[in-house]
Amino acid sequence: MNRLVIVANRVPNPRERGATAGGLAVALRDALARREALWFGWSGQTAETTEIEPREFRVGRITYATLDLGREDYRRYYQGFSNASLWPTLHYRLGLVQFSRDDLAGYRRVNAAFAEALAPLLRPDDTIWAHDFHLFPFGAELRRLGCRQRIGFFLHVPFPPAALFWALPQAEALLADLAAYDVIGVQSEDDAINLRGALAAIGKEEAVSRVAAFPIGIEAESFTALAEKAMVKRETERFQQSLVGRSLIIGVDRLDYTKGLPQRFCGFGQLLARFPEHRSKVTYLQVAPVSRGDVAQYRALRRELDEWAGRINGQYAEPDWMPLRYMTRAVARPVLAGFMRLARIGLVTPLRDGMNLVAKEYVAAQDPEDPGVLVLSRFAGAVAQLPGALLVNPLDPDEIAEALDQALTMPREDRRARWEECVVSVRRDGAQAWCHDFLSRLEGANDA
Ligand code: G6P
Repeated sequence: MNRLVIVANRVPNPRERGATAGGLAVALRDALARREALWFGWSGQTAETTEIEPREFRVGRITYATLDLGREDYRRYYQGFSNASLWPTLHYRLGLVQFSRDDLAGYRRVNAAFAEALAPLLRPDDTIWAHDFHLFPFGAELRRLGCRQRIGFFLHVPFPPAALFWALPQAEALLADLAAYDVIGVQSEDDAINLRGALAAIGKEEAVSRVAAFPIGIEAESFTALAEKAMVKRETERFQQSLVGRSLIIGVDRLDYTKGLPQRFCGFGQLLARFPEHRSKVTYLQVAPVSRGDVAQYRALRRELDEWAGRINGQYAEPDWMPLRYMTRAVARPVLAGFMRLARIGLVTPLRDGMNLVAKEYVAAQDPEDPGVLVLSRFAGAVAQLPGALLVNPLDPDEIAEALDQALTMPREDRRARWEECVVSVRRDGAQAWCHDFLSRLEGANDA
């Protein structure tokens, strides 16, 4: 079988295989186990200038090739254009967009540098798969260097309606570059419709038919096993004891303004205000590891959440009850899986999300005999696969409060019926199917 070349801004740390690996690394695990692979991208380190030659190292059948980014490139490409211009645009948040031509130039420069560093490592029959919004121009840069291999692209985040996307300066050129890819994958049918519309509007008709939705999934079986195993861990036992029989609501998100955290905290506050019968009966654990902490909007969000947490606990806490437990550190997946299994409610309310795998993990973690309820934003891509979730508009704290009350008082039979409706596709449309579907399309693409 030919080699698979994965290109992504983040390259997983090979020492973090298994339980602590990130979403993409887990999703690709099966594909990478079956064929030789090269994983190329940023080392996660900065240096004086961006490296020209990647550092290579091999673990099993996977070769990793990474580059340090120059400090100016890191600032322009990563903090600037990727995270302060593209990220808010793609998540429908034009009010948060910061744009500068220097940032855009840095973004293009790093994409070109990635292509130049990868090109000499390529074999003629490689299949190349680039991931996410950091790499819109990457395929076009490779083509400019004469690369004729199949190159696919998968966008992990949403693609907004064209009228929104055009607000981003020089959006047309960015989009035109996507046409260099043989397959352009997105998470949902809505994203596909939006992206096709935008490509058609700039006359890239040939690219329109290469856009398709491939909803990403999780390795459900192994997550269920992780959650089961967690139940006998000391951390889980200690945590459970600390709840003293109260119902648990859990939220797990990167500390990101797309996740709707202030509105979610407010919704929990509304639950306690409007349904006083739940006071002292419920504990909400929000795990929100700090992300992109050097980008201004993320720092502002952190301050806002500190305030919310203080306000809610200040108002409702009792000497022996802290309603909201809020932490900005990460919890290891094998422990988190157990916390999810303990939780009566999984609270997942992003304002906009490409997919949201936490929602699927929550479902996979449940005890089939006594499952909890998923309260899910109607603006997460995962909605299409989770028909048993209680849907909310994440901007309406009262709707969140009402859904929490409904979930907290829901009889076991109803919880089971809803969970069963969700678990079917979480199991069936898993990580392997996602990978297989995308690669079949890509590797069949030139033969068709
Ligand atoms: C999202 C993006 C990924 C990104 C991750 C973490 O899931 O889709 O591409 O890697 O966030 O963000 P970071 O900026 O730390 O890589």
